[in-house]
Amino acid sequence: MDLQLKKKLEISNISKAYEDNPRVLKSISFDVYDGEFLSLLGPSGCGKSTLLRILIGLLESDQGTILKDGKDITKAHPSARGMGIVFQNYALFENMTVLQNVEYAQKFHGVSKKDAREKAAEMISAVGLREHGDKYPRSLSGGQQQRVAIARTLALNPDIVLLDEPMSALDVSTRLTMRDELKNLQDRFGTTMIYVTHDQEEAFSMSDRIMVLDSGNISQLDTPENLVMHPANEYVESFVLENLRKKAASLARFTGVCGK
Ligand SMILES: Nc1ncnc2c1ncn2[C@@H]1O[C@H](COP(=O)(O)OP(=O)(O)OP(=O)(O)O)[C@@H](O)[C@H]1O
Ligand SMILES: [Mg+2]
Repeated sequence: MDLQLKKKLEISNISKAYEDNPRVLKSISFDVYDGEFLSLLGPSGCGKSTLLRILIGLLESDQGTILKDGKDITKAHPSARGMGIVFQNYALFENMTVLQNVEYAQKFHGVSKKDAREKAAEMISAVGLREHGDKYPRSLSGGQQQRVAIARTLALNPDIVLLDEPMSALDVSTRLTMRDELKNLQDRFGTTMIYVTHDQEEAFSMSDRIMVLDSGNISQLDTPENLVMHPANEYVESFVLENLRKKAASLARFTGVCGK
């Protein structure tokens, strides 16, 4: 994508400390471009979920500002930010059908019942679950449940979608399929996506840019190509590139066999 596009988010000097965890985020500043797929990549505990929760307004930062389309949303209510979030564990309502799950949140946004139903049907179709609208979550596979969670988020027309390790509970082949599906949905709806993962390969295969986080600091924020060609420091070299190379090397042993 052309990264000269307009800035969707401008994040300045965001810091966060928890009572027993001082300085989980250490004065972080970065921009997110309109329509971009940005991954936050870092090991467990480096502050990825904390940053997402601050962006969507579920958690207050100790300092710093967030501008969206040039407007200060630092203190705005989550529902006023035009953002949606998809969690790792789907968080579906077990006592509601797929259709009802996707309709439900819309009711709190002043959408009429008829429009909510139409939108829900459209989104369920967009994620490939048209035949499953009347089923309950327990009768769906993990991948299908995650698709419902994505449909539910998209039904509210967010222009930014935050995804917190949405694939980590899925098997490898479902993850690969879902990657493509997610990118297709992004193209179709023009959504800006911020995607949290600790999987280097996932970040490299999906992202326009990757933010490498190291204990609450941005180690490097760059395109996948630039990260490979110009790693900013030893941490990017070891945590990101070395792991990626190991994975590539282990796969390379089989490419001759698989290619046939
Ligand atoms: N509510 C909380 N109270 C105290 N400490 C917290 C709280 N939430 C998170 N932390 C701590 O803040 C740090 C960052 O947590 P965070 O959940 O943002 O990490 P993460 O990068 O999302 O990790 P993971 O990959 O395991 O999900 C961790 O040390 C965590 O223990
Ligand atoms: Mg997390």
